[in-house]
Amino acid sequence: MSESIVLFGPPGAGKGTQAEAIVNATGKPQVSTGDMLRAALNAGTTLGLEAKKYMDVGELVPDEVIIGLIADRMQEDDACDGVLFDGFPRTIIQAEALAKIAVVTLVISIEVPDESIVERIVGRRMDPETGEIYHVNFRPAPSDISSRLIQRKDDNEEAVRTRLVAYHSQTAPLAEWYDQRGILKTVNGNQGMAEVGAEISQLLD
Ligand code: AP5
Repeated sequence: MSESIVLFGPPGAGKGTQAEAIVNATGKPQVSTGDMLRAALNAGTTLGLEAKKYMDVGELVPDEVIIGLIADRMQEDDACDGVLFDGFPRTIIQAEALAKIAVVTLVISIEVPDESIVERIVGRRMDPETGEIYHVNFRPAPSDISSRLIQRKDDNEEAVRTRLVAYHSQTAPLAEWYDQRGILKTVNGNQGMAEVGAEISQLLD
């Protein structure tokens, strides 16, 4: 089995923002369970509609749904040399399932305090044409595309608070789980995007 990387951190930590550079540096495709669930929802699949109930309010989608999604994704040709997981695993059950189908050699944990998270999430905007992530204050979009930007339905303060509760109770314990396996590396996510990127790049070297 080939070597995969996990990008780990609370909602809004900057996982999606940093993923592109890691993909470019490693050649591994990004596998984001959040993006996969949103794509399923946009396609109107049963899985997408079921996931929507959880996503809209900020709760985790059940483990069996996510594990099935990842098992299928790892069968695809581009996953044979390992992938960059973004937003997966999010529970110890998911991590145990992952260990049976992939070898994770590095977990990059982007650490950001809760007080910075709400501002980041509520100000996030996405370009539906390119998938590019912007922020109204920290990364404003060029003015010629600003009219087409969208805001995720779960990027509101109430859902973010629920996502943070889910993160601390169900996902954060995974950091220790991976640390015990000697593969957890942390970066300070509470600084500029370029500085976070530089710390990650050092880890990859
Ligand atoms: P998902 O899509 O994975 O959302 P998330 O983990 O909550 O992460 P985000 O995408 O919100 O944040 P990010 O870390 O990528 O931050 P970004 O780079 O965009 O999951 C959504 C939902 O799907 C979940 O709530 C759950 O329901 C379900 N789900 C998904 N995976 C699941 C799983 N494995 N198990 C169960 N359920 C699952 O940055 C955020 C903003 O901050 C942007 O505007 C960006 O421009 C800005 N920013 C980034 N870095 C910085 C910086 N250094 N300084 C200032 N601003 C910054």
